[in-house]
Amino acid sequence: MSRNFEPVWLALPFPAFVIDATARIAEVNDAAEGFCMASRRQMRGHKLEDFAGTGSAVVDAVQQAQGGMRSVVLHDVQIGWGGQARGMANVQANKLGEGEVLLMLHPRSIADRMDRSLSHRHAARSVAGMAAMLAHEIRNPLAGISGAAQLLSGALGTEDRELTDVIEDEARRIGDLVNRVEAFGEMGPGEVQAVNIHDVIDRAKRAAAAGFAKHIRFKEVFDPSIPPTVGSGDQLMQVLINLLKNAAEAMPAGGVVTLKTAFRPGVKLSLPGKRRQSLPIEILLRDSGPGIAPSILEDVFEPFVSTKASGTGLGLSLVSKIIADHGGVVDCRSDSSGTEFRLLLPVWKEVG
Ligand SMILES: Nc1ncnc2c1ncn2[C@@H]1O[C@H](COP(=O)(O)OP(=O)(O)OP(=O)(O)O)[C@@H](O)[C@H]1O
Ligand SMILES: [Mg+2]
Repeated sequence: MSRNFEPVWLALPFPAFVIDATARIAEVNDAAEGFCMASRRQMRGHKLEDFAGTGSAVVDAVQQAQGGMRSVVLHDVQIGWGGQARGMANVQANKLGEGEVLLMLHPRSIADRMDRSLSHRHAARSVAGMAAMLAHEIRNPLAGISGAAQLLSGALGTEDRELTDVIEDEARRIGDLVNRVEAFGEMGPGEVQAVNIHDVIDRAKRAAAAGFAKHIRFKEVFDPSIPPTVGSGDQLMQVLINLLKNAAEAMPAGGVVTLKTAFRPGVKLSLPGKRRQSLPIEILLRDSGPGIAPSILEDVFEPFVSTKASGTGLGLSLVSKIIADHGGVVDCRSDSSGTEFRLLLPVWKEVG
């Protein structure tokens, strides 16, 4: 059986080249043309080192693969092409046979974001799967426990009643946790419509300021030119509430949250399935707190990661799930002077 793999090759979402035995570029895919800002015709038949530079890490990786190593991977390589810097990438060279090598570049920023946002998504999905089971297996015995504690407390003296109160309080806490976990499973894409992001931010801010965020100040820098995004206003409000709640919990009285929006039509991201997703709506939420503990910084979007005595660790996991469901991306930067979450979202397009 033989199949034509040309369309697959062309559509690979990362730059890929076939280098022949004489170290010349034999094939180039679409992503490579974009990354190198050079056309297939300009590159084919030319020496790899004419573009990547003599002695560059890319050339080195290809030579190592030709020299007998089957697969060579170099991490965090600064890529230059035709004398121009093209950013950081992981470089992979695989021997194909007869001296040919498949050279692949995985540009760092995109690869990182895709990896992170996809793995959060998987984690959130497995939480959703677990939720139904948890709810079923825990709720009934839990109702039994708190019912029994209530009955028991009627027959006890005041001192012993403190113990049954503890049982009831803790049972309630477990019940709340089950409800929050279950929210993952129940949340579908919801009703999709045009959403004005400034309205959502405003609603979330007012709810926060009236409750858990009484002690902090808000600073706003809004870009009025932002068009509507697409999705569920209620779910996006939940995203902002969770982020504001974390910021408020991280800061003492007088702490400042800066909310900033911007419209950046140039921001595009390669996501699986869709070739280039445009995510021009940017929302930044920055706090002046002490920063996220370095030990959990890499994992903050994973479910059940928390440093708080009564935290579920589901807040940021929910944030990443909702943003992923909206076709967007969230990332986070944090150091001892504060924490910044950045949300990138698509624009609402009228259909029909
Ligand atoms: N703005 C922030 N500043 C400092 N640390 C933060 C901030 N946001 C999140 N964190 C850290 O990340 C952890 C995970 O946050 P997440 O919202 O997922 O869970 P949680 O706040 O602990 O629990 P829950 O949201 O269920 O109340 C927090 O416990 C905290 O340590
Ligand atoms: Mg939280």
